[in-house]
Amino acid sequence: MNRAASLEFEHRFVEGDRSGDGLTLLLLHGTGGDESDLIPLGKALAPGAALLSPRGRVLENGMPRFFRRLAEGVFDQQDLKAQTASLVRFIESASQVYHLRADRIVAAGYSNGANIAASVLLTHPSVLAAAVLFRPMVPFVPSTSPNLERASLFIAAGKRDAIVSSEETRRLVRILETGGAAITMFWHNGGHELGQDDLTAATRWVSEWRARP
Ligand code: MLT
Repeated sequence: MNRAASLEFEHRFVEGDRSGDGLTLLLLHGTGGDESDLIPLGKALAPGAALLSPRGRVLENGMPRFFRRLAEGVFDQQDLKAQTASLVRFIESASQVYHLRADRIVAAGYSNGANIAASVLLTHPSVLAAAVLFRPMVPFVPSTSPNLERASLFIAAGKRDAIVSSEETRRLVRILETGGAAITMFWHNGGHELGQDDLTAATRWVSEWRARP
């Protein structure tokens, strides 16, 4: 059996530059997106990196998501927990199938994809070396703080985001910082949609992160 086809998520994989730094970007799309959506973003954010891009397995009126929600911003916690665990298994299995460096996996997620990336950070803090979270919310409040001292995070929020309030963003930052994460915050002047300024700031941050010893 084709080992890539046995992985738990439909996905796309783009091989990285062999002479590069072994970075893999885990691309996590927003509601209604799919595994192809963020490939151009991934190429711009981290040139030469391998790209691993799963498609969320939950359908909401035909739109893929990474976990169920009961209403806008109200998450099905049981499903979130199960889907987060599946995504972590997928990352681990895909690392073997594609010979990825497990210590060089960086998530880049938008909206629903940023929320499941935050859930991975809070439940399995050693799986991601870093993360770029565009418009994330608090996926859940952990009962004990995870150890995120090794995690470097870039968070981009919209000042006029109708889905994620500034207070919600600050609440997430407080939770992640309590775990010891180093966070670079970027405030975009608009709403939930991404702007060129978000991408420029995130690209600069990723390239500075890659240049660290
Ligand atoms: C969610 O996870 O529901 C998002 O933050 C909002 C969305 O995906 O539209």
